[in-house]
Amino acid sequence: MKASSVVFVLLAATTSAFALPQANTTTIATTTSKGCPSLPSIIPLPTVTELPDPFVSIDGSQITTKNEWACRRDEINALFQQFELGMKPGAPSVFTSTFSSNTLSITAGDGATSITFTATVTYPSGSTASYPALIAFQGGSLPVPSGVAIINFNNDDIAVENDASSRGVGKFYTLYGSNATASAMMAWSWGVSRIIDALETLPVSQHKIDVNHLGVTGCSRDGKGAFIAGAFDTRIVLTIPQESGASEIVQENVWFSVEFANQFANDVDILPLDHHSLAALVAPRGLLVIENTDYEWLGPWSCYGCMTTATKVWQALGVPDNMGFSQIGGHLHCAFPSSQQPDLDAYVNKFLFDQLTNTTIFRSDLPSNETFDETMWAPWSVPMLS
Ligand SMILES: *[C@@H]1O[C@H](CO)[C@@H](O)[C@H](O)[C@H]1NC(C)=O
Ligand SMILES: *[C@@H]1O[C@H](CO)[C@@H](O)[C@H](O)[C@H]1NC(C)=O
Ligand SMILES: *[C@@H]1O[C@H](CO)[C@@H](O)[C@H](O)[C@H]1NC(C)=O
Ligand SMILES: *[C@@H]1O[C@H](CO)[C@@H](O)[C@H](O)[C@H]1NC(C)=O
Repeated sequence: MKASSVVFVLLAATTSAFALPQANTTTIATTTSKGCPSLPSIIPLPTVTELPDPFVSIDGSQITTKNEWACRRDEINALFQQFELGMKPGAPSVFTSTFSSNTLSITAGDGATSITFTATVTYPSGSTASYPALIAFQGGSLPVPSGVAIINFNNDDIAVENDASSRGVGKFYTLYGSNATASAMMAWSWGVSRIIDALETLPVSQHKIDVNHLGVTGCSRDGKGAFIAGAFDTRIVLTIPQESGASEIVQENVWFSVEFANQFANDVDILPLDHHSLAALVAPRGLLVIENTDYEWLGPWSCYGCMTTATKVWQALGVPDNMGFSQIGGHLHCAFPSSQQPDLDAYVNKFLFDQLTNTTIFRSDLPSNETFDETMWAPWSVPMLS
């Protein structure tokens, strides 16, 4: 059995005991940064029953420095696109943005096709511009922090996600084709990146948003989306997925890629990643994972283990308190309880307002019989990256 996670749970029913399927994946389409080793075109997919060691590259080399981690991070990014989420296109060749009546309007084009989508901004009262902002999927489900603007991201407009028939439907697919490999979550992540492009392009005097203090949030499916958005755009300084865990969501919707469903969903032990690796893409930036123990379908036990493991990446990078986990039940799904407010405040104040707060937060009210055996799930050692 393999663990996972916030965003979803890759709980395989059994330990894989049969022959490996042929690792005949195609060439990785995402290139790595300058100076990083290029990825092999064929990725070996051995059975790994524990959470894969984030500090060992696909070629088997051990990560010992921050520079090596930067390349390993690129590799993890590419593997997620290849195996789980589909390809995230870069900035489109045609891009225009305007801002008026508190609304960002973005036109993105590629060849003959273009799409236009909007995001509305709600400003805080009682403070002065420019404002830190949370890009909030469907407006988000958190109490709006004081002094923070909310950029309302209508992710469903970019990629529809009603059910399995939503594959390839939405403005992203109008632009990139209905066969684009990007899953709905990756298409949303592309949309978030274009919002940030627009904020960077337009004068701050117009939109009054501080582009160096952007966070992203959403709850439930939109929490999954927010997590992906934060993982795949390093301009976001604070990622706050809320109740993004799940126990099984491959058939239900189009959040993941076709490749993931076909090759990995029923054979997760060959996936060289899990969602501690997804969290790792956010490091060393700020990540506060907000969860709820009351719903089994949120995969609370798995989220706990997965995020316990994720913290090791921040430890290795020397910033363990840039990642927090707060998992508290006793409330409805996406109803944020006041008991978690101090955790949210600490992260918002540190990352969106540059205040010195105590963000050493890792707490859960899971039943005491639901423990996480690190020697079983994460038997690898954590380097101090130099
Ligand atoms: C490649 O993968 C497909 C499905 O993922 C599988 O059916 C096939 O046997 C694999 N091997 C080759 C050599 O095509
Ligand atoms: C998508 O792929 C299918 C199957 O290969 C093909 O029939 C269809 O024409 C493709 N659609 C587009 C828009 O490329
Ligand atoms: C920060 O909070 C943690 C958890 O409550 C606590 O253990 C630690 O002592 C605090 N650190 C400081 C510097 O106050
Ligand atoms: C832990 O105990 C609760 C009841 O207190 C039970 O419902 C749950 O299944 C137990 N979990 C495990 C992993 O045994």
